[in-house]
Amino acid sequence: MRIALGSDHGGFTLKEEIKKYLNEKGMEYKDFGTHTTDSCDYPDIALPAARAVASGEYDRGILICGTGIGIGIAANKVQGIRAALCHDTFSARASREHNNANILTMGERVIGRGLAMDIVDIWLKTEFTGGRHQRRVEKIHEIETRALDSK
Ligand code: RB5
Repeated sequence: MRIALGSDHGGFTLKEEIKKYLNEKGMEYKDFGTHTTDSCDYPDIALPAARAVASGEYDRGILICGTGIGIGIAANKVQGIRAALCHDTFSARASREHNNANILTMGERVIGRGLAMDIVDIWLKTEFTGGRHQRRVEKIHEIETRALDSK
């Protein structure tokens, strides 16, 4: 599984922790930045990472900012992206099983490293259930084809 990873300055430290996890698991990833703790704008990170997932170049994305909110809002403007903000393991599992979320977002200023890494682990391992959930995801896709970024 290929992962598109990114953060702004507010999520930089947690992103680096997630890189260690992905390295330990031998998972392929690309770090879309940021590469320092200097202040930057989360949409500038979210857009290329989200496009890389939407195009199929990467299978899933993990995006971190201070709250996980801004970077997720930005990512969800890209057609085909279902970014889910998860700060608990139940939501992380459900976002995969029910929503087929293809980007996980978290806030470094919201949760600790231990919980964040459990969330990453569960989110990466959980598969989409399909069935009735497939129909709902298709309805979301039908809505977004009318309006969102599609590059
Ligand atoms: C940056 O200060 C902060 O606003 C950003 O990381 C994020 O929390 C926005 O949603």
